[in-house]
Amino acid sequence: MTETTAFPSARTAVITGAASERGIGRATADLLASQGWCVAILDIDADAAALAAEHIAATHGVQSIGVGADVSDQESVEAAIAAVESSLPPIVALANIAGISSPTEFMNETKEAWDRVFAVNMTGTFMVTQRVLAGMIERKLGRVVSISSISAQRGGGTYSKVAYSASKAAIIGFTRALAREMGEHGVTVNCIAPGPVDTDIMGGTLSEDRKAAMSKDILMGRVGRVDEIAALLAFLMGGQAGFITAATYDINGGLQIS
Ligand SMILES: NC(=O)c1ccc[n+]([C@@H]2O[C@H](COP(=O)([O-])OP(=O)(O)OC[C@H]3O[C@@H](n4cnc5c(N)ncnc54)[C@H](O)[C@@H]3O)[C@@H](O)[C@H]2O)c1
Repeated sequence: MTETTAFPSARTAVITGAASERGIGRATADLLASQGWCVAILDIDADAAALAAEHIAATHGVQSIGVGADVSDQESVEAAIAAVESSLPPIVALANIAGISSPTEFMNETKEAWDRVFAVNMTGTFMVTQRVLAGMIERKLGRVVSISSISAQRGGGTYSKVAYSASKAAIIGFTRALAREMGEHGVTVNCIAPGPVDTDIMGGTLSEDRKAAMSKDILMGRVGRVDEIAALLAFLMGGQAGFITAATYDINGGLQIS
């Protein structure tokens, strides 16, 4: 039987893609910090990551660092996690949130653009997770939560197209297979599949017309908010979620059945 390791009060959450001010990652970083987590923000936008970390530390009175890192680059990931490990309490949770969209129709897709979408959305998730897991396995405690998308389940239909859907579908297989290997180490591995949320990844702020069009098939009649996605992520990263693993959580206002 696997023993359950107690959740420490001094603990760090690593959140990739949390620099964007209106994004899901930033909302998650804020919420976790308000719950007493130390927060490490890894983002390709180094300046915005530093600013976000400064703001979070000042607002919530926790330790926070922002590190410029491209999740698709192994050296960059190695340097960033080494920096986190040397300056913050042990990493208990990782949220793989960094991602890019891809609104290109399939027949216009290029190999370069396809590779970039997979490099960031899937390979980045692999590399950051593998690097962070070493410590989690040693400490017999960890939470890994990654972001898939309803686009993986319904085959697009929101903004991004085939490359994005395929990369986000890969996240679901990754999550289930990794959960199988990590259970014995006390590490849970889950993912969430959000429906449309008004963030910069949608090609800029959603106009009222675009929001209305996207809401048409959503049972709750509106697009999602970042704080709603953050709440689910924070729960899955938290101390009470130790018996949830290999799960994919729908969070889409009911769009999955329409
Ligand atoms: N907004 C939605 O409707 C929606 C729906 C389903 C899933 N998602 C997923 O949620 C995640 C967060 O997206 P968001 O909506 O908050 O958009 P966003 O554009 O605000 O956030 C994405 C963040 O990832 C960072 N990033 C991009 N490439 C990176 C790289 N190579 N290395 C490190 N950081 C990188 C960006 O700088 C940005 O801060 C993404 O994975 C996205 O696919 C979003």
